[in-house]
Amino acid sequence: MNTTETKLTPFAIDVINGLEKKNKSLPSKYFYDEEGDRLFQQIMNMPEYYLTRCEFEILAEQRKEICDAIGAFNASFNLIEFGAGDGLKTKLLLKYLTDRKADFTYYPVDISLHILDELTADLQDEFPSLQVAPVHDDYFGALRQMGNFNNRRNVTLFLGSNIGNFHYDEAAGFLKQFVSNSRSGDMLLLGVDLQKDPGIISLAYDDPHGITAAFNLNLLRRMNNELGADFDLDKFGHYTYYEPASGEVLSFLISLENQLVYFPDSDQTISFEKNELVHTEISKKYKPEELEELAISQGLKPVSHFLDSKNYFTDTLFSV
Ligand SMILES: C[S@@+](CC[C@H](N)C(=O)[O-])C[C@H]1O[C@@H](n2cnc3c(N)ncnc32)[C@H](O)[C@@H]1O
Repeated sequence: MNTTETKLTPFAIDVINGLEKKNKSLPSKYFYDEEGDRLFQQIMNMPEYYLTRCEFEILAEQRKEICDAIGAFNASFNLIEFGAGDGLKTKLLLKYLTDRKADFTYYPVDISLHILDELTADLQDEFPSLQVAPVHDDYFGALRQMGNFNNRRNVTLFLGSNIGNFHYDEAAGFLKQFVSNSRSGDMLLLGVDLQKDPGIISLAYDDPHGITAAFNLNLLRRMNNELGADFDLDKFGHYTYYEPASGEVLSFLISLENQLVYFPDSDQTISFEKNELVHTEISKKYKPEELEELAISQGLKPVSHFLDSKNYFTDTLFSV
């Protein structure tokens, strides 16, 4: 790396570090620029992406039970949400809580400033009485801030199977930090996609409309826009597979020919061989007992499981 290294953004540094590895990879948190946010909203609307509909059904039909189980009407609390996105499903809970005058502040956390601004404006319109305190940070930065919000009880939402974007050991590390930044009585509602027919899972990540492919390839466009790189999007493809033994969907970009890509900020050229893969995302699916074991091993206690009618997805409530 040249002397401009100190001026590189965290995005630029993570990209170069990932592309210099023997097995190239890019962190999935960089999918979400404005175009990535728009494409993810299209993914949520696809018939193949069952995750959103299943979790929507859980929150629509069991929100009373969920709000009772979190003790929403007993005392004031902070409602924190990691990776809030457009809040499509969370609004079901927010409506239920605000209609019944629960005393809480909502802290949506997101790495995408674009979606966070949109969500905040949207909530001010839809729920004028709701207190919203947006947090523009990544998960680990927000975890460090959590204990300092105020001394009310924290109830945290981590929905959409976002925890599936961690390998099992990384998820354990995340929960460990969550617990160490929490107090006894705090709660976590974890939305997790469950293992099921592999064909159903595979289609959600490699749809016939090409939307998941466009979402994956947008990472190249983002590097061109923000880092001045010269990726030719026509020279890369989208490749995913589901491995039922580990429960992991793995997504990659694949180089369709031998090629060089230049990054002007760091004055570096990265070479790609024909058929070389760049790992971009993991989406882990859990068995119910595996999920419990993961959470219990980090000091969380299962309180209730809220499942959809097909048993595809669970929103499981844990207490610290
Ligand atoms: C898959 S979307 C899910 C959104 C929402 N939770 C849902 O279930 O519909 C993931 C969201 O988390 C945000 N995100 C992804 N990685 C993140 C990270 N490491 N830290 C903070 N936010 C992140 C993205 O910007 C995006 O809005």
